[in-house]
Amino acid sequence: MKFCNSLLSMVYLTSLYVFTCETKIFHPKHCQRAQLEKNTEDLYNKTVSFKRLFPKDNITDIQLLTKQLKEDFMAQKNCNLRNNLLSFYINTFLENTLVKEKAKKFKIIDKLMVIQDLLLHCKKSHCDQKETESKSFRELKKKTCQIHGKRVLWKAISEMDILVEWIQEYIEEML
Ligand SMILES: *[C@@H]1O[C@H](CO)[C@@H](O)[C@H](O)[C@H]1NC(C)=O
Ligand SMILES: *[C@@H]1O[C@H](CO)[C@@H](O)[C@H](O)[C@H]1NC(C)=O
Repeated sequence: MKFCNSLLSMVYLTSLYVFTCETKIFHPKHCQRAQLEKNTEDLYNKTVSFKRLFPKDNITDIQLLTKQLKEDFMAQKNCNLRNNLLSFYINTFLENTLVKEKAKKFKIIDKLMVIQDLLLHCKKSHCDQKETESKSFRELKKKTCQIHGKRVLWKAISEMDILVEWIQEYIEEML
């Protein structure tokens, strides 16, 4: 699918940019845990209402946010994965023209970007600098390309609360 090829390379470049330049501008380098916690709870609440605006996901045999991806997301050293996964969600699903206007209503994209930025500074150990993607993330992208049309959007939105829960769990582990 042409859509997938061009899109996925774009997402990668965008996230590299965010990781190297933009993030240094908004916030100081230390972890603002309370801020991150509050923002994430707020996003979770908004996600509940946001999800109601879309058709129900009816693909039961595919899950985008898998157990393995969660494990990789939680690993302290995988800062790139956390950052890239959030960029991927934003660029591929939330910025889609069928979703964007409704996302704006609840400021979902802005909120997620603030959380993404705050997350970069919250880790207990050094970030792994290697740029190779984890298998679990590659599989997510592959699945995204396998589900045709709008249905991939409804699926991604239906799993949005899972993504926010992962962030919440990650923050809890920062204690
Ligand atoms: C989220 O919703 C819960 C339950 O309705 C509420 O107690 C909490 O204050 C809300 N949090 C934010 C940040 O809005
Ligand atoms: C699943 O949803 C799609 C679009 O949202 C619809 O076209 C299709 O008929 C639905 N399939 C079932 C089995 O409900």
